[in-house]
Amino acid sequence: MKDILILGIETSCDETAAAVVKNGREVLSNVIFSQIDIHTLYGGVVPEIASRKHIEKINQVIEKSLEDAEISLQEVDAVAVTYGPGLVGALLVGVGTAKGIAYAAGKPLVAVHHIEGHIAANYIEHQTLEPPFLCLVVSGGHTHLVRVEDYTSFEIIGRTHDDAAGEAFDKVARAIGLGYPGGPKIDQAAKEGNPKAIDFPRAKIADSAYDFSFSGVKSAVLNYLNQCEMKKLPVKREDVAASFQQAVVDVLVDHAVRAAGALGEKKLAVAGGVAANSCLRSAMEQACKENGLELCYPSPVYCTDNAAMIAVQGYYEYKKGNICDLDLNAIPNLKIGEDKFTGTNISYLEK
Ligand code: KG4
Ligand code: ZN
Repeated sequence: MKDILILGIETSCDETAAAVVKNGREVLSNVIFSQIDIHTLYGGVVPEIASRKHIEKINQVIEKSLEDAEISLQEVDAVAVTYGPGLVGALLVGVGTAKGIAYAAGKPLVAVHHIEGHIAANYIEHQTLEPPFLCLVVSGGHTHLVRVEDYTSFEIIGRTHDDAAGEAFDKVARAIGLGYPGGPKIDQAAKEGNPKAIDFPRAKIADSAYDFSFSGVKSAVLNYLNQCEMKKLPVKREDVAASFQQAVVDVLVDHAVRAAGALGEKKLAVAGGVAANSCLRSAMEQACKENGLELCYPSPVYCTDNAAMIAVQGYYEYKKGNICDLDLNAIPNLKIGEDKFTGTNISYLEK
């Protein structure tokens, strides 16, 4: 059978990324230009700056991805691009570039949902992983428990009612002076702290057993810091980091494992930037072992934003015949598993 090569492009937030993936599983190249250093100066992602940097870097990043994969653009079977959710200006750079390349090179264009891309990152290093499975997607913008029914069909089992897990990490990191990006910094600081030092709340949502809420724990951290300041008590930020992280991890693990049990799922995957968290990874391992669940998560480089995951999901969309027209638009608030492809005129090829 002929190999299928997908060029993936990702610009939904602050990483300009391109990758080439063979047959949906083998990464031939994975190029990421991270804008973190620039946004760190402002304490978070500045959308306008992100868009401009994407424009500056995108061609270079794509050229390098082809070079590293040792292929020409002509050898690519399709161009896959993230079209949502994300920052609209940032997404438009990737979508516009992908459309230009697809048109100029006469290649099919494939639209990929960013979160479905995060889930697909698991296929790279777990070659035998196939749907169905349950996936906990935890990133800077999303916290979802998703039942992956098939490579291209998804059902949401639980979602956050307010902050995403990564967002809570970033806000708490800022409050305790660790800076941006907060997740990795809290992960690091927590290693020196006591996770039982402060009892932060583990939120439960009435009537929705698998939904999440992280604004309460974030506010509890802010209140704790204010109290300490008012009473002139010292704050050990490693303890705050470790106790906050433990509160978030406890809820994520509890919901994921309970949902897997209730749905009769035997395989549990974790995806998204927060899946790189060392405490979450070890707590998940322990809980899955105790509950007889098979666990997988990507290496840290495939947890945070990258284009290899977009090329992987693009491969499965391409195989399904989900090719889109050149009037594809960016959809900043694109929902997972719901209004897929609405707002665009995507046509479907015969299988
Ligand atoms: O998936 P991602 O790169 O971008 C989005 O799609 O949002 O996720 C970024 C998020 C940020 O909130 C970042 O703080 C968090 O993932 N993150 C972590 C870790 N590494 C990245 N959170 C906790 N622990 C980490 N080691
Ligand atoms: Zn992401």
